[in-house]
Amino acid sequence: MRKKIIIGNWKMNKTSKEVKEFFEEFNKKELKTRSNTLYGLAIPACNIPFAIDKRVNKKFIVAAQDISKHLSGAFTGEISILMLKDLGVSHVIIGHSERRIYHGETDQDVNTKAKIALEHGVIPIICVGETLEQYESKQSKKIVEKQIKDCVKDLDLSKIVIAYEPVWAIGTGKTATNEYAQVMCNHIRKLTSDDTLIQYGGSVTPETINDLLKQPDVDGALVGGASLKVDSFIKLIEK
Ligand code: 13P
Repeated sequence: MRKKIIIGNWKMNKTSKEVKEFFEEFNKKELKTRSNTLYGLAIPACNIPFAIDKRVNKKFIVAAQDISKHLSGAFTGEISILMLKDLGVSHVIIGHSERRIYHGETDQDVNTKAKIALEHGVIPIICVGETLEQYESKQSKKIVEKQIKDCVKDLDLSKIVIAYEPVWAIGTGKTATNEYAQVMCNHIRKLTSDDTLIQYGGSVTPETINDLLKQPDVDGALVGGASLKVDSFIKLIEK
């Protein structure tokens, strides 16, 4: 049976002090986490050491939110997989729609970055998803199919995570229906493999996650806003 994987994506939020406070509060709670479920947080790179230092359960995934296409060299402002691996990162989000929209990342960039991550033993969480315009003109399946084909080219499909995040559902409070999430994740399943973990992301909350995870091809969630507060994050990962 495939595992479930629930990752909070903190995006550009929290100072080091706030990260430490989050973990101090989180560590005090007695958790009844879902069975067969991986969970963790994707944290801005500069604060990763504080999360690694504070997490008590070593299985708590600390993920990065992006990596450079390069391993080292004259690339000002970039962060290499070697540096993140060295800090203890096990997963990295690649090709989030915010990186695609604000930083011009292409499917080819995503493929290159995912390859670099895998080569260094870090699991890429590859994001795909259609825009509102594409959704309204009923192109979702076609768009996502092209993204998947280009992003996962030559990757070991049993080692990657795909996050299906319709752009129109991100941070809008307008989540996809469970049925729609299932249809799209099933479409991605057919383009990848039975071993690939496929998450849904886009306005997931503690109220919506349980029914979402009952969908046969939804193996987890990538959660933004609802992962920022300890109580809400715990509700996402508890059964
Ligand atoms: P929200 O859960 O805030 O909609 O963000 C989703 C997301 O972009 C996770 O990567």
